[in-house]
Amino acid sequence: MKPYVSVAVDGPVGAGKSSIARTAAKMLGYIYVDTGALYRAVGLYCHRNGVDMAQPDAIASVLPEIHPEIRLIDGTQHIYLNKEDVSEEIRLPEISMAASAVSAVSAVRAALLDLQRNMAKTNNVIMDGRDIGTVVLPDATVKIFLTAAPEIRAKRRYDELCAKGVQTTFEEVLADLNTRDYNDSHRETAPLKQADDAVLADTSALDFEQSCELICNIIKERL
Ligand code: DC
Repeated sequence: MKPYVSVAVDGPVGAGKSSIARTAAKMLGYIYVDTGALYRAVGLYCHRNGVDMAQPDAIASVLPEIHPEIRLIDGTQHIYLNKEDVSEEIRLPEISMAASAVSAVSAVRAALLDLQRNMAKTNNVIMDGRDIGTVVLPDATVKIFLTAAPEIRAKRRYDELCAKGVQTTFEEVLADLNTRDYNDSHRETAPLKQADDAVLADTSALDFEQSCELICNIIKERL
């Protein structure tokens, strides 16, 4: 019998994975793990240090200098890059694009694998990402593929960025989202795709509370 429950939540950009999974984790008393933050930390390091994102070898060569860490502070995930809390900075749009670029490099994915698996070995987790159900936790207790129509996802992301005071337009956010979705689902290593045994959850017509309820129900039905 598996000692800990693990819930894998995968899906495209802006499907609401992090906010929905975070809330569902609170409701169920599980730990929420946002794996995208790890790729963002690697992207941030490369961005700060002028690493050419078009060169997988250049990205791979700086990996030994990058030590990302997930720390739980009062139940909330903080992401550290070489001992510095970068939880806010990794959310900037240019770091989203950098994260998508570095996540296509197989050496980066390999370097982050154990970190993610270890979180699930010692906690009941809801882990969100792109390859959690397919690669990171292929034996997850429950797998969910969370999605919504691209325009709806872009509108949610646009509203989020505006609320944070980030200067952008809806068109820019939609174009970014489509580019990242394309990159994430067409890369060679661990592309974004629904695991064969994942439950499809489309939140296009649901508000936030309804989406959380849907996820919690899917989980409870399968435990
Ligand atoms: O979920 P997010 O937008 O914070 O993720 C940032 C980038 O990291 C995203 O473009 C894809 C990549 N990613 C990944 O490849 N695998 C994961 N498990 C999580 C994120």
